Amino acid sequence: MEAFIQSVGAYAPPRRMSNNELAQLVDTSDEWIYSHTGISFRHIADESEAASDLAIPAARKALEAAGLAASELDLVIVATSTPDYVGLPSTACVVQDGIGATKAGAMDVMAVCTGFVYALETARAFVRSGSARHVLVAGTEVYSKIMNWSDRNTCVLFGDGAGAVIVSPVHDDAAPSRILDSILRSDGNGATALMRPCGGTRSAYVPGQTPESELALQMDGRRVYIFAVRAVVDTITEILERNNLRFEDVRYFVPHQANRRIIEAAAKRVGIPIDRFYLNMHEYANTSAASIPLALDEMNTKELLERGDLIVTIGFGAGLTYGANLVAW
Ligand code: UT7
Repeated sequence: MEAFIQSVGAYAPPRRMSNNELAQLVDTSDEWIYSHTGISFRHIADESEAASDLAIPAARKALEAAGLAASELDLVIVATSTPDYVGLPSTACVVQDGIGATKAGAMDVMAVCTGFVYALETARAFVRSGSARHVLVAGTEVYSKIMNWSDRNTCVLFGDGAGAVIVSPVHDDAAPSRILDSILRSDGNGATALMRPCGGTRSAYVPGQTPESELALQMDGRRVYIFAVRAVVDTITEILERNNLRFEDVRYFVPHQANRRIIEAAAKRVGIPIDRFYLNMHEYANTSAASIPLALDEMNTKELLERGDLIVTIGFGAGLTYGANLVAW
């Protein structure tokens, strides 16, 4: 039994913050941010919104587009690195309850910016094995709440949002849509390159002692940049080679939307024209596990994809993790 992406939905908080607005908080400029990253705006959740609050409307849209009731879901998988709660309970359980998926199991997948790629392959494996029929996969992030808003090296790069897909079994062998292949990789040796140092069990939060900056995201930007370019090049090369494809066979490459320059550098190295890559970091900045499904939803809304079109998603980020999915839409 093969699996396919039946539908997609997304949600971004309405509050839209421009680069110029950020320049009033830290020593930066629209020119620097746009020229170094391709980012102009990011959407920011309001005080009361957590990761599940963004995932629930995205999930509802995906269910509606699939014509499925939430009670028909067997599994809810949420990819997030900004969960509602630290560790427990999972954000997936909050989403499962929020949408009324009364017969579904629920679990989070933590692979940070590669989270959606990992979660999609997890859903595919459940459907292929027959353990589940319909699976909701959501990527949702509220990075605005883990930012050090006085650190210009990081706060200009991230935003909030959510996207969701429904993964279902393929019943008709002649149907063109299916998830064809995935690559999941990690390099934990680079764990400290992008992390929240405190608040977990390695370095617990100690009131009055833990500096606030240690609870926020910290990044060695240069190191992550070098890793990311190599990860994009390696995963594209491998997934094309092992499926006997040329880049011309792929309608769109849909990378994690971290930074336009990372994608441009990788595209040049693999010899693929940049217009084959779907990019929307201009509007949303880096939304980690949400960035790929947010892009897929936008592409779907713009009617850029037809059933059977080949796309390659590419994820890379903290962990370090990286990977790709080859999908016939
Ligand atoms: O999901 C994965 C998430 N992570 C990433 O995608 C990040 C990967 N890394 C990057 O994209 C890039 O390394 C950055 C965009 C973070 C930085 O770009 P860069 O061209 O590597 O800049 P840099 O770190 O080499 O810094 C160049 C200069 C520095 O000033 P000095 O020391 O040369 O005087 C920085 O202090 O730019 C300065 N700078 C800024 N200036 C204005 C750093 N951030 C900013 C800023 N506004 N926001």
